[in-house]
Amino acid sequence: MAPPAPSAGSIPLVKALILAGGAGTRLRPITHTRAKQLVPVANKPILFYGLEAIASAGIKEVGIIVGDTADEVRAAVGDGSAWGLDVSYLPQEAPLGLAHCVLIAREFLGDDDFVMYLGDNMLHQSLRGFVDTFEAARAAARTPTLEAGAADVPAAQILLKQVPDPHRFGVAELDRLGRVVRLVEKPADPPSDLALVGVYLFDARIHDAVAAIQPSARGELEITDAIQWLIDQGFGVNSDVLEGWWIDTGKLTPLLEANRLILETVEQRLDGEVGAGSRIDGRVVVESGARIERSTIRGPVIIGAGTTITDSYIGPFSAVGPNCRIERSEIEHSVLLGETSVIDAGRIEDSLLGYHVIVGRTDRRPRATRLMVGDHCQVDLA
Ligand code: DAU
Repeated sequence: MAPPAPSAGSIPLVKALILAGGAGTRLRPITHTRAKQLVPVANKPILFYGLEAIASAGIKEVGIIVGDTADEVRAAVGDGSAWGLDVSYLPQEAPLGLAHCVLIAREFLGDDDFVMYLGDNMLHQSLRGFVDTFEAARAAARTPTLEAGAADVPAAQILLKQVPDPHRFGVAELDRLGRVVRLVEKPADPPSDLALVGVYLFDARIHDAVAAIQPSARGELEITDAIQWLIDQGFGVNSDVLEGWWIDTGKLTPLLEANRLILETVEQRLDGEVGAGSRIDGRVVVESGARIERSTIRGPVIIGAGTTITDSYIGPFSAVGPNCRIERSEIEHSVLLGETSVIDAGRIEDSLLGYHVIVGRTDRRPRATRLMVGDHCQVDLA
């Protein structure tokens, strides 16, 4: 049994466990070759938003669970000093579940309280309030006047959000007093519309929980089962309902949506060249080394470094990554990850193009659409 929580005072929560392993099956083909946590949203990897949120919650030490894409994650994040964080990497041999991640992070976590953060989640709200609420509840429960034993100190705090499609998530059932009584992972018949957001706070009792549970029907050690174990032992599990937006970016539509929400917050910044005959409307970022020629850009839009836009229109909620070439085409509400050419393509909307994609038009006979498209792609012809 892990030692009970210390008896007095409030210890600031300084550790985070970020989960950036796993297989990005639902974002294929984009993640056939890349970590899903590094897919850019508004030209910045999803994982970087998480690191920023963790750093601004006052957390210093971060363990990142990595799988097959470990090298890529290490290359992008480095030692974490860019965020003022001290990052260690914790390799996981296979995606054996969220609770398995806690199991293998035992040494890194020690007996400290920590935040567990799923590396493909994005949240509007800062983590600071969530962390402070947990630490305040724990400190209050420990004050001698309350005659509270260790079991009354909350062992975990989960974050919930009402969603229209709870069967895609872990789902919480609350009692009439708002206490968590049951958690179920991706239920066919959800007991509520409250999904578990991918941010959790735990004290050291979670280590007993992850050691006590068995793999689920899908062969994973589920964090929902570990939290259920805490509840079944009589340990307190608090919950908070998230007010701002939250996105599990693991699918195409949420990814475009995350992009839209982040672009909504950008301010105009024109570091690249905007040639005569071009028009920039509203909140548009043109990174240095990018060039806009005889084109209209209507924000919110971000144009990556080294990209050229010629005789084209780029419409709201588009993020064009670095080193792209767009000529005589129209693009709106779309994400181009980088190194991609779109030439004489007509109008493209609601699309996600990976790296090194070529979309063009040819006069070759016979007239036909010619495709070279990988697995799990979708093409809607106009
Ligand atoms: O996004 C919130 C949901 O996240 C919760 O509502 C669910 O209760 C929770 O189980 C989780 O569901 P997902 O199906 O979205 O989890 P996913 O497999 O996408 O993994 C989440 C992150 O954790 C992702 O960045 C990959 C990483 N991961 C996952 C597993 C299973 C690991 O690093 N190791 C693993 O073994």
